[in-house]
Amino acid sequence: MDQELFAEVDRFIGETVVQEDEALRGAVKAAEAAGLPSIQVSPPQGKLLQLLIRLVGAKNVLEFGTLGGYSAILIARALPQDGRLITLEARPEYAEVARRSIDRAGVGERVEIRVGPALEALPALEEKGAGPFDLVFIDADKVNTPNYFAWALDRTRPGGLIVADNVVRKGTLADAGDPDEATQAQRRLHETLAGDSRVSATTIQTVGAKGYDGFLIAFVEGA
Ligand code: SAH
Ligand code: DHB
Ligand code: MG
Repeated sequence: MDQELFAEVDRFIGETVVQEDEALRGAVKAAEAAGLPSIQVSPPQGKLLQLLIRLVGAKNVLEFGTLGGYSAILIARALPQDGRLITLEARPEYAEVARRSIDRAGVGERVEIRVGPALEALPALEEKGAGPFDLVFIDADKVNTPNYFAWALDRTRPGGLIVADNVVRKGTLADAGDPDEATQAQRRLHETLAGDSRVSATTIQTVGAKGYDGFLIAFVEGA
């Protein structure tokens, strides 16, 4: 595999059809300066998220895993004026960085960050009657992706989408014997979805600046 080539192509895409502006570059810089890991979606991946949001006409979006707010800014920008993003982040210090970058990007009023482990935040969301969601982006702790997916599936409207990042994991997805629990979680999710008529899903393998991975896109049936 040719990581340098993948990164170079991502750079070209980033100079042509997908362009970052000052606010997005600022979010990356602020995250770097605060010592956050540089694991946000790549610009081409983020643009795909934006196109999916527009395709489903999403107004109500839920994100698992805020980090420094990079994907949250992209999601919020793809929403209509009265759209809303709730994003869940376990680490308060990450959430603070994200809050500042999201506000600086001018989309602060569309974005609510909830701090704490996502599984613990979900009952409160339930209580306040959040949802149904038009699109859910799952990008937090990977061992819990199947749990987040199960919760999201009951709360995403027919015709909506659930997108999960990092399911291919350098190709280990195909390895039943892989010792990584996060990989086994993605395998389990795929096996479960195969027998679930409530969704129609695919997984797209990706290469790029972030290496070899992929995301799952599930369409919620019943519309
Ligand atoms: N979506 C972001 C990247 C998220 S990285 C972007 O593309 O810009 C994964 C994030 O999930 C990290 O910030 C990590 O702190 C957070 N996370 C890890 N475990 C979590 C949990 N149990 N609940 C909520 N967030 C969690
Ligand atoms: C990691 C998390 C991500 O969401 C990602 O896209 C890449 C890496 C990580 O935790 O290492
Ligand atoms: Mg990710």
